[in-house]
Amino acid sequence: MVILHLEDSALDHQLVCRALQKTGLQFSIRRVETLIEFLRAASETRFDLILADYRLSGFTALDAWAALPKIGERPPFILLSGTIGEAAAVAAIHMGISDYVHKDDLDGLERVVLRSLEVHRARADKERADQELAASEKRLAEFAGYLQAAIERERAAIAREIHDDIGGSLAAVKLDLGWISRHGASTETQTHIDAATEMLLHAIGASQRIMMNLRPAILDQGLFAAVQWLAESFERRTGIKTVLRTNSISLSAPKPILLTAYRTAQEALTNVSKYANCTVVHIELSNAEAVLTLEVTDNGKGITALDMNKPKAFGLRGLQERAKTVGGWLDVSTIPAKGTSIILSIPLPAVGEDAPVDHFND
Ligand SMILES: Nc1ncnc2c1ncn2[C@@H]1O[C@H](COP(=O)(O)OP(=O)(O)O)[C@@H](O)[C@H]1O
Ligand SMILES: [Mg+2]
Repeated sequence: MVILHLEDSALDHQLVCRALQKTGLQFSIRRVETLIEFLRAASETRFDLILADYRLSGFTALDAWAALPKIGERPPFILLSGTIGEAAAVAAIHMGISDYVHKDDLDGLERVVLRSLEVHRARADKERADQELAASEKRLAEFAGYLQAAIERERAAIAREIHDDIGGSLAAVKLDLGWISRHGASTETQTHIDAATEMLLHAIGASQRIMMNLRPAILDQGLFAAVQWLAESFERRTGIKTVLRTNSISLSAPKPILLTAYRTAQEALTNVSKYANCTVVHIELSNAEAVLTLEVTDNGKGITALDMNKPKAFGLRGLQERAKTVGGWLDVSTIPAKGTSIILSIPLPAVGEDAPVDHFND
């Protein structure tokens, strides 16, 4: 252990060295007297511990402490003095100085040194762990954003293929069926043509619905129109009354934000149909005070804490991460037997300000 001792009395230095030797600690110690020497020593060498007399010629240990560079780790700093009152000692510890030992009580030095080193080590460990955790959370958030973008790209590509290949073929078959029907088909053939046409219309409808879920082309007509479409098809499919309200029909925002809001509405409605067991859903869309909010509220059974923490449920967690990728956040408020609200809020970039990176450029 390397110790720096700020002390202008050679005798006091000797006493401290003797007290340290009695502890059995392995150490080397260097004495400095002036503030300049002290700062130079501290910048040249990494000390494990600093011991400092309180009152020195022209400055105090507090000045020395305050002059230490704040960057990086500062070693534990213990005041050794006979001339400091309890109040000053307390103030020193408030400033971040590790501890205080009275010069008349050097027998207590070992205990104080060991405790300071231990506290210092624990604090450094915690700082390191906090940093690692923050870095890992950041990586996870970046990864979530990357995955979302990849999923959206993949969905858009599949939608395009359905459109170009399947959609194109179905349209051609429809034309041909029409041609056969017009060119003197027998009654029996016509019955088959009608049946085939009906199946065909069903297939066209299904492929359009699948494309719409994969890539909401209707978003091009604005978020309100897209959510309205979602709400209407949800009501038709489930029979749950769905009420949509907005303060702005022509609500506009960068594409990633619109897509995030749309996917949030989609997942919230899917959850409502799967779990809520409710009779009404209210969807509210607003852009008041430069914040886009989307609220999906049901009057169903509510979400329990247990449901929320299901290990394999990623719907709401995914939405939370997704909201973060566009600078927003997701709140879930729920009351048992009364219902659930999923609230997405995204601050909108001011006009002229950079929009979030368009991950979902499709
Ligand atoms: N609107 C809702 N009403 C009641 N329970 C819900 C509602 N939304 C979600 N839940 C509960 O919360 C759980 C987590 O939902 P979610 O994160 O979307 O995951 P998943 O849908 O994959 O289960 C669901 O399994 C369900 O038990
Ligand atoms: Mg879900």
